[in-house]
Amino acid sequence: LPIEAPILADCGAADLPPGASPTNCCPPLKTSDIVDFVPPPPWSPFRLRPAAHLITDKAYLDKFALAISRMKALPDSDPRSFKNQANVHCAYCDGAYDQVGFPDLELQVHNSWLFFPFHRCYLYFFERILGKLIEDDSFAIPYWNWDNPEGMKMPSIYTDPTSSLFDPLRDAKHQPPTLVDLDYNDVDPNYTDNEQIDHNLRIMYRQLVSNARTPELFMGRPYRAGDKPNPGSGSMENIPHGPVHVWSGDRNQPNGENMGSFYSAGRDPLFYAHHANVDRMWDVWKAINKKRHRDFTDKDWLETSFLFYDENKRPVRVRVRDALEPGVMRYGYEQMPLPWLKTRP
Ligand code: C2O
Repeated sequence: LPIEAPILADCGAADLPPGASPTNCCPPLKTSDIVDFVPPPPWSPFRLRPAAHLITDKAYLDKFALAISRMKALPDSDPRSFKNQANVHCAYCDGAYDQVGFPDLELQVHNSWLFFPFHRCYLYFFERILGKLIEDDSFAIPYWNWDNPEGMKMPSIYTDPTSSLFDPLRDAKHQPPTLVDLDYNDVDPNYTDNEQIDHNLRIMYRQLVSNARTPELFMGRPYRAGDKPNPGSGSMENIPHGPVHVWSGDRNQPNGENMGSFYSAGRDPLFYAHHANVDRMWDVWKAINKKRHRDFTDKDWLETSFLFYDENKRPVRVRVRDALEPGVMRYGYEQMPLPWLKTRP
């Protein structure tokens, strides 16, 4: 059977890692009834997510920064506040919820086939809230194009200390122009830039092609009602998703905060750009081999549901089957070349 959306009123203390400052990850309680997700009408504005490193449009950048600062200014009682949005990740990832019907089992959206759909829905509502705060219903968040040599640095729009997109808790040694290491493992490699690019492109090919021949290998192992959490991650979640988190967080914090730990990752605006590219990779994977790279057809996956607050503070129950087509959700990604596709390891 599918895992059910958590019951907000049963949200409890999260299991935070040692050294984390006390944090209540639970959202403010609902003020209205839960509604089931309905996709936006097909004629509603399309949100085209741009590659962060190519943003030169000052008007767009100002809008984005304004939307984030407005989100940061919302009170804690508002489920749309930046703090509460960051805590969504903490609650779903650090054991604040039990699985409905299984009080001894925590709900965990990582390390299983829930990884891609959960994060897609999370970003979907995050983006709509930002758009609402600046009254722009075509607003789209940027993506960090780390699979492309041009995008392999921490995108500079996030590194201006005066911007709302900045987060002080990042690794000082990984600021631009340092290139990201897509399989970073706490040790900085001794590569030249060209070697690092080549290394990264090989990793991309390996994780999206060689190691991703089946839905289970790419997306993660089945996780159904009553199963223990963390049955196993797919190739993408494992690498480069995880290493990019750790590479971005501050190595001098107890748990690599902010990006390097589940409970704090959503506090860095860069998180949403990183996950937008992860989300883009779900579609890229399907597009590069239409015959073999397909979504699961298992009902337990399709009927799994999550709960999010939307841009109008309504709690919405969204099922995995609602989140299979970005086009239906009225968003997409600015197209960029996939240079790794020709780079067999
Ligand atoms: Cu929910 Cu990138 O982790």
